[in-house]
Amino acid sequence: MRVQLAPMRDQAAPIYLQLYQRLREAIADGRLQPGERVPSVRALASELNLARGTVEAAYQLLVGEGYLLPRGPAGTVVSPQLPQSPPSTGVSTKPRTRSAPSERSLREALPFQLGLPALDAFPRKLWSRLGARHLRQLASADLDYPDAQGLYALRSSLVRYLGVSRGIACEPQQVFITSSYRSSLLLIRQALLQAGDACWFEDPGYFKAREALEGADLQLIPVPVDDQGLRVDDGRKLAANARCALVTPSHQSPLGVSLSLPRRLALLDWAQASQAWIVEDDYDSEYRYVGPPLPALKSLDHHGRVLYCGTFSKVLFPGLRLAYLVVPPAQVERFTACARIFDHAGPALSQAITADFLDQGHFARHLKRMRTLYAERRDFLAKALEQVFGARLRVELQAGGIHLLARLNESEDDSALAARAQGAGLAVMALSQWARKYPCGSGLLLGFTNIASAEQALHLARRLAKALDQEAR
Ligand SMILES: Cc1ncc(COP(=O)(O)O)c(C=O)c1O
Repeated sequence: MRVQLAPMRDQAAPIYLQLYQRLREAIADGRLQPGERVPSVRALASELNLARGTVEAAYQLLVGEGYLLPRGPAGTVVSPQLPQSPPSTGVSTKPRTRSAPSERSLREALPFQLGLPALDAFPRKLWSRLGARHLRQLASADLDYPDAQGLYALRSSLVRYLGVSRGIACEPQQVFITSSYRSSLLLIRQALLQAGDACWFEDPGYFKAREALEGADLQLIPVPVDDQGLRVDDGRKLAANARCALVTPSHQSPLGVSLSLPRRLALLDWAQASQAWIVEDDYDSEYRYVGPPLPALKSLDHHGRVLYCGTFSKVLFPGLRLAYLVVPPAQVERFTACARIFDHAGPALSQAITADFLDQGHFARHLKRMRTLYAERRDFLAKALEQVFGARLRVELQAGGIHLLARLNESEDDSALAARAQGAGLAVMALSQWARKYPCGSGLLLGFTNIASAEQALHLARRLAKALDQEAR
């Protein structure tokens, strides 16, 4: 290793942290390249005259963050999935001034983070090429205000995709591009709902949607969920005259169950009978590991009661900030008027790149690759949790989704445990914190999409076990 790593004994930070930071800097500025082998713990400890435990602690942090990849007897290497950086010449004799941490490094994804796709597997080069082509061909018209409903090219691509993959028949004028699922919700609120309107909300359910709707002056009615999804009969008993119902039919968020066909039909019946709206949040339906993806609830909507919400956050990347909404034909005019006033669509350039990505077949290929990758990564984590926790955690494997629910014994306080894990830098969430009124048991929610190997999964599971067993401070 051509890198000067010796930590400074006179600095305030513990030696293992200094070593960790130096290794991390060496990887970030290219002095250590992806795939390059790092010295064994023993060799580095002896070279730097440090205790082995000190070097081990630094390596463990780097493995947990995905910088290093342990390969058993083959040694530990810099993760080959990291982007290549230009190698440093290493000839500078000037002391390196530490630059302020960039916004990006401050916001790096933590292990187990929920709701993120595999950031290492996104075809960045291809995306940049598509983007560069658009920038090179920028015409005067591209500098003008774009269509407030969203780029026609993207809306047309989505119509083709939704028809084939989600069983939804619609026209481009029914599609509204927005910057996120929550921005789609706000558009729905502006077009169809009044302040104080009652709205069924899955309990447990996606807390960010809950916050957005409460912030938009709607009255949320928690409705319990079981292994068939939203309990529609309970919703009717609680608030038959609600104006809308928010549901995640493909993979209930966070339990992962699918809304059963009888419940889908019952929900559509209720909406038709009471002239209410169903908001279908189809956030990660493309990821199903057993059989083909289920058709969307919208595909059964013969009376124009379903507002279909999709997002590119899980299937491309969340930094794109691009989502979409499909509205019934009879509502297009109202939505168009609101879209003009409130301007929810994101930048036209991102929309144009996304449209090309769909039209040129990259999207279908990317989804296919991600389905295989996620099935593998999910398996890494499920097996590692089983190996490390045994009967203490029961992983509930659902047919799809991009996180795991690991159930704890009812006597365990999942909020306290998740807080300990978070304190140790692990982005685990407590199931019970997604519930409002109806108890849903004790469990941990764990994202698996960025766990690249069985070794990394095992290492993270051990880190989690250690964090959970620490006494609360
Ligand atoms: C249940 C659910 N719906 C929708 C979304 C998508 O939200 P956005 O479009 O803001 O990324 C998420 C993101 O995590 C989610 O968990």
